[in-house]
This record gives sequence, structure tokens and C-alpha cells, in this order.
Amino acid sequence: MNDASSASAMSDDAELARLDLDDARAEAARLTDLIVDARDAYYGRDEVLVDDATYDGWMQRLEALERLHPEVQGQDSPTLSVGAASGTLFAPVEHAERMLSLDNVFSEDEFRAWAARVQRDVGAGVHYLCELKIDGLALSLRYEHGRLVSAATRGDGRVGEDVTENVRDVAGIPLTLAGSGHPGLVEVRGEVFFTVADFQSLNAYQESMGDRLFANPRNAASGSLRQKREGKNERQLEAMHERLSRLRLTVHGIGAWPNPPVATQSEVYGLLESWGLPVSRYFTVAESVDAAADYIRHYGEHRHDVEHEIDGVVVKVDELALHDELGATSRAPRWAIAYKYPPEQVNTKLLDIVVSVGRTGRATPFAVMEPARVAGSVVRQATLHNQDVVKAKGVLIGDTIVIRKAGDVIPEVLGPVVELRDGSERAFVMPANCPECGSPLAPAKEGDIDLRCPNTRSCPAQVRGRVEHIGSRGALDIEGLGEVSAAALTHPLRPEVPPLVTEAGLFDLRAEDLFPIDVEVRDAETGLVRLDADGEPDARSPFRRQRKAPLEGRAPTASRPDPVFDPDGPFDGDADFILSAAAHELLENLERAKTKELWRFFVALSIRHVGPVAARALAQWFGSIDAIRAASREELAAVEGVGPIIADAIIDWFEVDWHVEIVDRWAAAGAQLATPGHPGPGAAPASGGVLEGVTIVATGTLEGYTREGAQEAIIAAGGKAASSVSKKTDFVAAGPGAGSKLAKAEELGIRIIDAAQFRVLVEQGPAALGEWSGA
Ligand code: IVH
Repeated sequence: MNDASSASAMSDDAELARLDLDDARAEAARLTDLIVDARDAYYGRDEVLVDDATYDGWMQRLEALERLHPEVQGQDSPTLSVGAASGTLFAPVEHAERMLSLDNVFSEDEFRAWAARVQRDVGAGVHYLCELKIDGLALSLRYEHGRLVSAATRGDGRVGEDVTENVRDVAGIPLTLAGSGHPGLVEVRGEVFFTVADFQSLNAYQESMGDRLFANPRNAASGSLRQKREGKNERQLEAMHERLSRLRLTVHGIGAWPNPPVATQSEVYGLLESWGLPVSRYFTVAESVDAAADYIRHYGEHRHDVEHEIDGVVVKVDELALHDELGATSRAPRWAIAYKYPPEQVNTKLLDIVVSVGRTGRATPFAVMEPARVAGSVVRQATLHNQDVVKAKGVLIGDTIVIRKAGDVIPEVLGPVVELRDGSERAFVMPANCPECGSPLAPAKEGDIDLRCPNTRSCPAQVRGRVEHIGSRGALDIEGLGEVSAAALTHPLRPEVPPLVTEAGLFDLRAEDLFPIDVEVRDAETGLVRLDADGEPDARSPFRRQRKAPLEGRAPTASRPDPVFDPDGPFDGDADFILSAAAHELLENLERAKTKELWRFFVALSIRHVGPVAARALAQWFGSIDAIRAASREELAAVEGVGPIIADAIIDWFEVDWHVEIVDRWAAAGAQLATPGHPGPGAAPASGGVLEGVTIVATGTLEGYTREGAQEAIIAAGGKAASSVSKKTDFVAAGPGAGSKLAKAEELGIRIIDAAQFRVLVEQGPAALGEWSGA
């Protein structure tokens, strides 16, 4: 994404006010698209697509736009929610009280203006609790009568991900609270993080194991907390436990406890501390705005004296009664503010500027730099956004440049140190042609600054990006379909004709197609070929592993086990290699993906503006891709969470022949592009479905369904998909691998059904199963 042109666009009320309604709508949609993409990546895939300043710029501009043209604010506007829709890896947990975010200020003047507003609204005599803004991951711990019952990430603020199991391993989080007087329910909010020292030793360990390094402590914390246990061997589980136990927590608030027996936020911290919860030792209560400003200044100068990364200071009105009086917007409380510190800067050398083409065809120049450590991580590349930005920054290849990066921010090139030039520097020239397919680059429409490769269908860079997107967590979540395999399938060194010219053939892939591939490994962010230690392109054969005994004329297949490896056998060219575990895994996972939930397929199609939220809404309403394709613009736009812009994008997308071919070929290859049991377009499936009032728990492997697919099928048919078995459960659908839930169902005498019966149940309802008496 990296849309600098809009990032630098300051929110200009006058400019925005002049827009007519159509233009305002289009601009709101554009910003929403960028914000949602960035959020989905950040919360769902743990990827940072844009720097904080850019992101904040988008949010501010969208807020201004919505203030000036209230009609453009949709119900799903990012200004009304905090994070992205909950990720897909963990079960959803609804927070008893919403987890809000914080509004930001960036200067002392802005901070004082906030304090003045507070005093205007509630009078003088306010105390300001000042604390550090920890660069970690927000967590909500639900304690009932002093016992930890669940732990959840923030998600979209209403619904987070259930990470209870992993949180139990975090050393500093008590499972039972100390002391007494615990409420029936309280949500303790805090931040989990690694100290800088633990982060560095974690990365050293990752490196020694040949595993991926984390970009910064925040990513490491999020990656650690959001690990899956399934499929891990003993050593991996131990390493996971070790990592989790090193995570720290600092609590910074409570939720869902309407009348705590204390009057101030600082007393809340005292109470939490008496319960054995970790409270920051850095907080202080300032008696005046000046004293709060001193605290902000002090930590601005001493941010590295703290054992963890901070990206600012949070100032909260200490008096709880004033919290109620001041209230909150839909995004953030008015009684608290985050003061963000400016990003840090370092110098490094600009070695080159190279251009890469992304999923949407945009050609983006990247700065390739001498590795530099800035704000806790090593930086090698930074986007320069487009040729105009390169010019505006005035950098030459060979320059010493100033870069900056805050704790949770991607790097930015600020400009050259002109005094250090020696005359050997040279100017960057934007190439006229796509570096991957050679098509002449051009703006998508007149006046656009960004240049694009128009070869949307088959430019290897674009197909590679789309294939990688299909495998990503927010789309079909296919393990084994990532950066390297997407490149291997779409742009190998050999064979000359790649297995995938477009993504249409993805589900037709056979073992034979994977067999002869060699590929250059590319950087996930820049799409550029990585170099090995000798400066040569890092080339791999991801789907071959070793020589084998002759295959006796048979091609290897996904289902047949590897023949026995015979290192001394005669060498026989390509036929002398066996498929690697990676190839088996990919083919198997592709097969499994065919029955994933419909919305995932819809995200996987890379239709502009269609992310998980819109895709879910569409899938739920229409029930099949055919029905979506047949729908009119008005029908599409009428679906909640969709609207005219997305509707137009969908209509436009289906008008392109090769797009339709993707859908047709996926369907012909057996992809399930309809939700089983869906009653048809418009018949709101959440109520009135064949499973209305029926609660089902699915456990173990149900043939023909993924775990999410089974849940989706229940919900689509109007039923309730529960995650634990109780007396209220009507059916437990159990397959191989079912464990404690099955035992519990037996104990409670709940009807247990197999995969075949489950299919009948979700398609036809309980009556079709006979002998069920109803809820
Ligand atoms: S208070 C309703 N205090 O920063 C107030 N948040 O950018 C909720 N954060 O969502 C937050 N350190 O995850 C608070 N000392 C602190 C914090 C803190 C880090 C995080 C938190 C919040 C985010 C907003």
C-alpha cells in the first residue's frame, strides 16, 4: 500500500469542505480502503504496511471528511471501530466492555489544548495520572470471582481473539487473584510486551535455529501470543512455552466493573497491585498540567532508560467520577490522551533505488540501504512511494541519508546529508517498463502520480502478489502458500512457462507441476530478489528435496508416500528427485482449502475494496459466488457493510473475462463456492434457517469441513456454533481427534453425530435426522 501521496496530504478542512457529495464519498471509500487494509494486515497478519504518521494522517483526514460531510460515514467506518475484524486463528471472544483506543497528540501545545478542553468541561482541580505508553499488544483478562476465565486480544474492540491457553504460560499473569473482595466480573486491561533485552535474546535464538527474526518487540509479542499449538512437536512446544513465559504484562485499566470501591485511577492501580497484578513502576500523579508536561519531556529524553520500548506517554484524568462526566467518543475516551514521541532518526548509506511491482500493479521505488539499527530493529529497505517522492526528497544513489523509525513504524527516508556528497552520487531514473514483464508503465488515469504495470492478468509480479494473497490468513489461509511458493509457482527461473500464469489454475495444480521448479527468493516487502552471502541471487528448489531411487516411470503424486531415498542410486535428471514435504503439504492444503468458508474465497479473488468484512457480509447474504455474480448493483449495495462503492467494484470485476475464468476454474476443480445449507440470497440466514434455535458443537476432524467451515455452515443455517459443550448444547458433531468435548457430551447425554449426519443437519435441519425432540 505505502501510499505516501495521501499520507503527506494534510487534513485540509477547506479542501474537503469543497468536495461535492460524490467526490466526498469516493474519498471516504478510498481512505477506508487504505485504513482497513492496514488494520487487517496489522491485526490479522502482524504486518506493518504503513508508518504511524501515514496511518494517523488517513484517520484524521477521514474524521475531518465525516465531520464535514456526515452523510459519507457508513456504519462500518474505521472511525467507529478500533482494530480490524477479529483474526481467524483463535476463537472469537466478546469483550464485556468495549476496548477503546486513545486519541493522539504530537506536541506540547496539542497536549495543553487537550488539558484545557478537559478543564473547560469539568472545571479545575483535575489530577493527571501520567504513565508510559508501552509498545506492546493490548490484552483483556476476564476475572470472575478472582479466577482468570479468559484472555483476549483487542480485535476490533468489541470482539477479540481468545488467547487464554497461551496467556496461562505468561509468568506474570496470575490465574487466581491474591487478596479478597474480588468482583463477580472484571476485565483487567493491559499491555503485553518483551523487554528490549528479552527481545534481543529471542532474536538471537531465532537466528541460531534458522528461524525468522522478529522486526521489533511488538511483533515478537504478538507473534508469541498468537501461536498455534496444533502440529507442534515437543521441542517446539517447549520453545513456545519458554517464549510465552518471558512475556511481561503491565496493567493499565479495568472494564466491566461499574462501581469499583475506589475513586481514582491511581487507586485502581493500587487495588490491582494488591491482587498480584503487575502495575507499572513508572506512573505518577501530576497535580498540574505543567507537571504532566515535565513528565512527558523527561521520558522524551530518557525513553531508552526504560527496559521496554515506549512510543509515548499516556495521560489520564485521575478522578474516576470525571471519566463518566467526560465520556468517550466511539473510538477513544475524552479523559485520556496519548502523547506520541517523534520517531527517531539515524544516518545510513543509500546503496540503490530499485523498483518493484506489487499485487495491484503499482510500481514502487525502494531505497536499498546499508543495514542500520534504528529504534530497536535493523532496517535495510524503505519505500520511496513513487518517482515524485524520490525527487521531492532530493536523494541520489550513493548519498548518506537520514532515516527515521519509531518503535512500531516502518522506516522512512527523510533526505540526504548533502555536505557528505563526494560527486560519485547519481540520480535515480524511473524505468519506463515494468521490471518484471516489460510492459510500459503508465498512470491508471490521467493525473495519477503512481505508475502501474497494465498487464494485470499475467504480469508475474501481480500474479505472484495475488497468489500470495490467496494463501494469506485473511483469505484462504493456506499453510505452505506463502512468499516463496507463490514466487515459485508464478515466476520460477525454470520451467520457462510457470505452473500458474494466473491464479485460475491454482486448484488444478498437480505434483508434476511442482516438480521441476527453481526460484529466486524474493523479499516479502519489496518483491525484490534476495542476495545470498556471495551477492548472488538466493535461488532454491522449494519443492524438491533429495535424489531418490528411480521412480520406475511413475510420476510422484501427493498421495503416494516418498519412495525410499537411495543416495547411491544412478542419477537420472529431474526424474531423480522426489517431491519435498513442502510440495505434499501445499497440495494437501490446497485440497483442504476447497471446502473453506465462502467469504474466504471471496477475499481470495482480490476484488478491489473487498476485505474480510464485506466478504463475510456478502457470503452470509447471498450464500454463493454465483448468487453474488448474478446480483445487481442495487442488491449488492443494499447488503449491510457493502454499499455502492464495493458494489461497483464487484460488478466491474465480474465484467472481465479472465476474472470469471478464475471463478469457473476453481469451481470446476472442486472448490466449494457456495455455503452448504444456505437458504438462498436475501433469506437472512442468521434467523429462520433450518437450524434456528439449535446449538451445535463441532469437534475433531469432520470430513469435508475445516473447523471454521463447519462453524460457518452452522451459522449460515441459522444455528449457534458453540465452542464448549454444556447442557444447552443440542448436538455434538464429532470426528476423528475429538477429545474432551466428546467425553463431556457423553457425560451429559447430548446427541453425538458424525460428519455425514452433520451434513444432513446443516442442510436439512434436525428433523431430517429423526428421533430428535427439539430444543
Ligand atoms: S490506556 C481507554 N495506557 O495504546 C484507554 N493504553 O494507542 C485504553 N497502550 O489501545 C488504553 N500503553 O493498547 C493505555 N499506559 C497505557 C498504554 C496503553 C500502551 C496501548 C493500548 C491502547 C493503545 C492506543
